[in-house]
Amino acid sequence: MPRKVDYGFRYEDDNYDVYEDYDYDYADDYDYEEEENGIAPVTKAKQEASRTGVWRCPICTYDNENSMSACDICGVLRNPLVKVNNKGDTAAAAFKFDAPSPDDLVSNGLRSVKSKSKDSRGRGTNFLVESELAANGLVSSSTSVTRERHNGVEENDSTSGSGNKPETFNTRMDTESLPSKSGKARSIIERKTESISQYIPEKWMTPNNKDDGLSQLNLAIVGHVDSGKSTLSGRMLHLLGRISQKEMHKYEKEAKQQGKGSFAFAWALDESAEERERGITMTVGVAFFTSRKYHVVLLDSPGHRDFVPNMISGATQADAAILVVDASMGSFEAGIDAIGGQTREHAQLIRSFGVDQIIIVVNKMDVVEYSKERFDVIKQKLGTFLRSCGFKDSSILWIPASAMENQNLVANPSEARLSWFKGPSLLDAIDSLQLPERDYSKPLLMPICDVIKSQSQGQVTACGKLESGAIRTGSKVLVMPSGITATARSLERDSQLCNIARAGDNVTVNLQGIEGNQVTAGGVICHPDYPVQVTNRLQLKILVLDISTPIVMGSQLEFHIHHAKEAARIVKILSLLDPKTGNTTKKSPRCLLAKQNAIVEVVLQGPVCVEEYSSCRALGRVFLRSSGRTIALGIVTQVIKREE
Ligand code: GTP
Ligand code: MG
Repeated sequence: MPRKVDYGFRYEDDNYDVYEDYDYDYADDYDYEEEENGIAPVTKAKQEASRTGVWRCPICTYDNENSMSACDICGVLRNPLVKVNNKGDTAAAAFKFDAPSPDDLVSNGLRSVKSKSKDSRGRGTNFLVESELAANGLVSSSTSVTRERHNGVEENDSTSGSGNKPETFNTRMDTESLPSKSGKARSIIERKTESISQYIPEKWMTPNNKDDGLSQLNLAIVGHVDSGKSTLSGRMLHLLGRISQKEMHKYEKEAKQQGKGSFAFAWALDESAEERERGITMTVGVAFFTSRKYHVVLLDSPGHRDFVPNMISGATQADAAILVVDASMGSFEAGIDAIGGQTREHAQLIRSFGVDQIIIVVNKMDVVEYSKERFDVIKQKLGTFLRSCGFKDSSILWIPASAMENQNLVANPSEARLSWFKGPSLLDAIDSLQLPERDYSKPLLMPICDVIKSQSQGQVTACGKLESGAIRTGSKVLVMPSGITATARSLERDSQLCNIARAGDNVTVNLQGIEGNQVTAGGVICHPDYPVQVTNRLQLKILVLDISTPIVMGSQLEFHIHHAKEAARIVKILSLLDPKTGNTTKKSPRCLLAKQNAIVEVVLQGPVCVEEYSSCRALGRVFLRSSGRTIALGIVTQVIKREE
C-alpha cells in the first residue's frame, strides 16, 4: 500500500480528513505491484485457484477440495447450472437467493455468547445464483446459520440474517403501525424526525453514577488468524475467575484428547465442534469480566479471512479494541502482509467503526525469548501502519505478552527476560481506556446482533448493544423492520437480570408480544415514536480501498451495515471527491479506482435498517466487500425512498 494519502472522510465528524495521515506508501500495494509487473491480480487469483486438489470459491475465497460441488463455507455452487431460476429470469436472478432455512440459535450459558452468522456453511440453503453472478462477488447473508445455546438450554428454530423477505416487510410497512403522511413515500417509515431534536429523555434514562456501578466497555479482540486472540481471552477469563478451575481442567482434558492441547484456553471461546476441530474461531465469542474500572464485554473475533463478515458484525459494537499480533518470526510479517494479512484489514475496519483507542498485544513473546529488539521492530512497523489508518500515537498502547505463559496479562511480568518492559499489564491498560461518549439524550436504538428463540417457552430474546437511548423492564419498543411493537419483559447483562440498560450497554432483551419470525438479526429495536429508517436504496460517501478491478455501475457487492448484510448493486456513481477538501472533482465518473473518494448510490437486495451517519454513526457506517475482501468503507449520506 503506498504511503501518506488522506483517507478521505472523517468518521468522527463526517468531515473530510479523518485518515489524513493514511499512509498508502507504508507497504507495497500488491495490486499495483502486480499490475506494474504486468500480472493482473485476477491472473494471480486464478493461479491460486488452480492449486492441485482444490478449487477456490469466487465468493469467500475458501479453498475447497475438488470433490466438493459447492463451497464448504458459503455454499456457492462450484459450477452452478445456468439459470437455476426456473422462470429463466436472468435479471431477477441477480438478486435472488432462497431465504435461509431457519437458524437454530442457541446462546451460550457460560459468559460467552456466540455472535450470529455462525458457521456459514449454507446448510439448507439453496442458491439460485449463476456462476457469473457469483464471480461478480454477489453474496447474500442468507448463507449464514447461527447455532447458539442460551442458559445452557438448547434452543432452536430461530432466524438470523437480514431482511430476506421484502414482501412481508412491504405489507407491514403499509398496513401496520407505520403511519404515512400524505405526499410522503410510504415505503420509508414515517418518522417524527422533526421532533427528534425535541426528544427529552426521561429521568431514569440518564445514568446516575452513584447507583449504577461500573460502566460497560465493549472491547473487540481482533487480529490475524492464530495470533492468540481466543487463548488470550480464555486466559484472561480464567485469571479473573470467570472460568473455574474445574471448567479449565475439562477444556484441557478434551483439547488434549483431540490432539489440540495448546488450544485449551481458546476452547472457552471456540465452542463449536467445527471451531475446535479446525482450531480457528469462526464466529465472534462474547464474554464478560470485571476490571477495577469496567464491566468488560470481550468480543473475540475470528481472524481467518473467510470470517471477516462475522468479525465486522461483532466488532462493530466495540468502544475500544485489542489488536493481537503474533511476535514469532514470519507470523507478524504474514499478518501485516498486504495480500492475506488480517492485521491490516482488521485495523482498518476497527478504525472505520469509529474506534480510536487500541491496545496492541504483541503476543507469543515466549517464542522470541521475550526479545526487546523483536518487540521494537514490530512496534515500529505496525505503528507506522496504524498511524496511516488514523490512530493517534497517544491512543495506542503497546503490551508485550505471552498468553500461553501468562506474562503481563493481569499483573506485571514475572519473567526476567521481560524485565525491560516498564509499562502496564494488559488489565491495567484496559483500565486506562476511556469510555466513548454515549448518546443518552437520543431515543432508543439497539441494532440486533443475535436472536434467540425458545420454542418450548415461546420466548424471543434479542441481543445487542444499545447505540442510543435506554430501555427498562416493561418498556414498549418497536422492532424493525417488522414494525411490530413489543414489550421488554426482562433484560440481562452478563447473564444477570437487570432493570435498565442504557447507551453503550450490551444486553439481551426478552421480548413479549412478538413472534420469533418478526425479530431478525440485522434489525433494530427502537423507541415506538422514533422508528429507524428502512430502505433498500442509499446514497453513500465511500473511500475505495486497494482494489484491482474498478467499481463500475452495476458492480455487485456485499453490503454490511451494523449487523445486517445484503447483496448490493452500484446503480449510480455520482461524483468523485477531492480527498482533502471533500469537494466534487468530477461528476458521473465511469468507474472508481483504488483510493478514490466518491458519492455513489446503491440498491440492496433487501431492506435494511439505517440512519444517516450524521444522525447515528453506528447505523450509518457501511462496508462494501467483494470476493472475500473489503473494497470500500463508507458512510450513509442519504436514505433514499425505498425501491419497490
Ligand atoms: P483465530 O481465532 O482462528 O483467528 O485464532 P486465534 O487468534 O484466536 O488464536 P488461538 O488463540 O486459537 O491460538 C492459536 C495458537 O497459538 C494455539 O495453538 C495457541 O496455543 C497458540 N498461542 C496462543 N498464545 C500463545 C502464546 O502466548 N505463546 C505461544 N507459544 N503460543 C500461543
Ligand atoms: Mg480465536
